[in-house]
Amino acid sequence: MEPPLEHTLRIGPSGEGLHASWNDGGSSDFPFIWLRDNCLCTECRHPQAWERTVDTVLLDVDIRPSAVDLNGGAALVWQDGHRSVFSSEWLRTHAPGRRTSLTPPGQTLWTGSSIREDLPEIDLASIEANDAGLLRWLRMIRHHGFSLVRGVPRRVGAVVDVAETIGPIQETNFGRTFQVRSKPDPENLAFTPVKLYAHTDVPNRRGVPGLQFLHCIEFGADGGESLLLDGYLAASRLRERDPEAHALLTSVAVPYRFQDDHHDIGNRFPVIGVDADGGYTEIRFNWALAAPLDLEPDLIRPFYRALQAFVGILRDPDLELMIKMQPGDCQVFDNRRVLHGRAAFDPNSGSRHLEGCYVDYDDFLSRLLTLEREGRNFRTS
Ligand code: OGA
Ligand code: ZN
Ligand code: ZN
Repeated sequence: MEPPLEHTLRIGPSGEGLHASWNDGGSSDFPFIWLRDNCLCTECRHPQAWERTVDTVLLDVDIRPSAVDLNGGAALVWQDGHRSVFSSEWLRTHAPGRRTSLTPPGQTLWTGSSIREDLPEIDLASIEANDAGLLRWLRMIRHHGFSLVRGVPRRVGAVVDVAETIGPIQETNFGRTFQVRSKPDPENLAFTPVKLYAHTDVPNRRGVPGLQFLHCIEFGADGGESLLLDGYLAASRLRERDPEAHALLTSVAVPYRFQDDHHDIGNRFPVIGVDADGGYTEIRFNWALAAPLDLEPDLIRPFYRALQAFVGILRDPDLELMIKMQPGDCQVFDNRRVLHGRAAFDPNSGSRHLEGCYVDYDDFLSRLLTLEREGRNFRTS
């Protein structure tokens, strides 16, 4: 048992909520409406589903308790006699306004030259051995936005087994899995031998693929080296060097569209996605899939200028991590953060066959967070 969390808890100066001072420094405020809304009792939440069973959105924003007991946590009795109890640990964990970092938790940005010496790589055997190995791998992916798995069986379908250790396959119009090799009548540029500049996959789709897997089954061809780069680092460089270009790329929605005989999937999104606090949420960049820009004509030249400033950063060799995949290797990367590409290859010099698939990012994060719980009761602590 951990020792009880040292703190002082009192009614805040304005009387609108509780105020906590924690012994390790820092303080938190808990407005009463927030406390009532988050009551942890099984009348307010379904005991298994743990969703709210009481309609609390229309609570009086000035709600006050009629009695408060602050010994070892907080017990509040509301005007209607309902009682809510919170441990100090729960209050500490869920305190509002604690978000301070713009970089998502557990992530570190990298350049190709910074990460080359210490590649986030792991053997499939250690992922499969136990939960500790699996967790190490998932943390690697969260941290760097990618990892390289070695020792994956060289057969079609093996990539699905790797992906399903994390979550269900996220299907797209390219199928449950796709075979990346040079072929006649390709449905997409990846299925040719041409160079692919750094891009993210399927930016035309609202539910963009989250985690991407590319498993190398055969590689005898000359050329075809793989490229990975940290899109959030590239975006933050643009923000430093050219704030106007950054502002355009985070606000102007680009029409991306994919069409073939059986599909027509198009949506507008900015190239750089940010949340309300300015933190990066996604990069959507695959100019091969951009539909004719339908911006106001006055915006078109400034937009291209901004895009070129970003591409100048994306093509900076310092950012690029080049890898020559070997049969049995599998790249796994966050398709919203890390851009990927490849050098051209000569299909007459030998075969090159990768198999790819996707898993939704929420399923990935969920797998990671549930492993990190380590038996902690998420309902009450
Ligand atoms: C892809 C892709 C890269 C490669 O299939 O999306 O970008 O190395 N492939 O062939
Ligand atoms: Zn309750
Ligand atoms: Zn791709």
